[in-house]
Amino acid sequence: MSDRGSFSSRMGFILAAAGSAVGLGNIWRFPYLAGTNGGAGFLFIYLLCIVSLCIPVMIGEIAIGRNAGSDAYGSYQKLGGGKWGYLGIYGILAGIIILSYYNVVAGWAFGYFLEISFGNLLNHQNFGEFFGEYVNAIGPIFLFSLGFMIMTAVIVSQGIAKGIEAANKIMMPGLYIILIGLIIYSLTLNNAMDGVRFYLVPQLENITLKTIFYALCQAFFSLSLGMGCLVTYGSYVTKDQNIVKSAAIISGADTSVAFLAGLLVFPLVFSLGAEPGQGPKLIFVILTQAFSTMGPIVGRIVGGSFFLLICFAALTSTISLLEVPAAFFVDTRKLPRKAVVWGLSGFIFVLGLPSMFSQGIIPFLNKLPVHNSPDFLSFIADLCDIMLISGGCLMCFFIRNRWKVDSLNKELAIGNPSYLGTALQSYINFSISWVCPIILSILTTLVVIDKFFGLEWLFG
Ligand code: TRP
Repeated sequence: MSDRGSFSSRMGFILAAAGSAVGLGNIWRFPYLAGTNGGAGFLFIYLLCIVSLCIPVMIGEIAIGRNAGSDAYGSYQKLGGGKWGYLGIYGILAGIIILSYYNVVAGWAFGYFLEISFGNLLNHQNFGEFFGEYVNAIGPIFLFSLGFMIMTAVIVSQGIAKGIEAANKIMMPGLYIILIGLIIYSLTLNNAMDGVRFYLVPQLENITLKTIFYALCQAFFSLSLGMGCLVTYGSYVTKDQNIVKSAAIISGADTSVAFLAGLLVFPLVFSLGAEPGQGPKLIFVILTQAFSTMGPIVGRIVGGSFFLLICFAALTSTISLLEVPAAFFVDTRKLPRKAVVWGLSGFIFVLGLPSMFSQGIIPFLNKLPVHNSPDFLSFIADLCDIMLISGGCLMCFFIRNRWKVDSLNKELAIGNPSYLGTALQSYINFSISWVCPIILSILTTLVVIDKFFGLEWLFG
């Protein structure tokens, strides 16, 4: 097991897991989903999902990983036997597919960082148009995504402690500082309060079944749940650590970054008189427009640093996505880490090419005959969302019916002896045994119907 390693400290694990969680999901995806799904209502349901479903699932994943001490496949196989190992494989596949499109979006962000810092992006007039042209400028996007994949591979090939911990220690504090600074600025703009109202005052009539679907999927995605990522990271956690507390810190960090990203974006949207529901291009358009009003030098510095931090956040997430399949080949298949990492990165990069070409270059990939998923990238993203919530649901069934809640409790009590018998323990047991399996089964079924056939098909 010489190639396994473990986190050198408690902080190391928390930083790495929070680094995995905080990424494009928080800064890019959360604001645009909130924007298309009613603002405050979305935020409200999102928070509800985190507390009632996601935190228990997170605790379960980390406990499984630490108890079994292996990758996602090895852990389920060891604790469950039989066919349970396939649940690990399912997660590993989800990780590979997520990384394939995630890396493309990371390439866009990397490109924006370079264009703002060293080019003349901020001199443009129409930032929406620029975005459309940019993501179809295949040469640069190809290079930037490739560069991003290479950086990920370099770090993951160094192994868990050195590479992953070090990358996170720099990024997290920087991200908070720049977010808060920008929020203060954006709140001083005209009409900013309309944005705050949109984001924070729920209008109950705006909450629909789809709001719930998107909020749930986003919560799983943002916390890196449902695919064995935290099983894998949990396997590097030492026995003296308090898993429940760590999970609370990780989800708190992740949720606060998403919340702050929204608090930055919506005041800007309303003060610029823009449309909150413009989809995946939202932050690329709104933020560049805002930076362009700061003057050439300040805009460049602030905008450049902001996109640089987005890239760091994305990098600590791509690292975790690559680590899951890599750990599988290193632990279960006993292959050398470096060869595995480079082989996988090459494969995943190629797998991402259809997503890269789906924004207009190849017309077919831009207009798939699938309900609700206009382009290949969105289609793949939807597919992954379904894999995550169903994976989380199956993990709860695994604990409930196979590994048993008692084993979970025993594992959680290691490093936290006073946990047993508390109300918190009852809450987590109840959530994992009943709330999550039931609610997640129902919602997974509905999301599948919605994404592929449309809910109209069900409700007429
Ligand atoms: N949570 C990350 C984000 O918000 C993305 C991510 C990293 C992820 N690892 C994951 C999503 C594992 C699901 C599963 O950007």
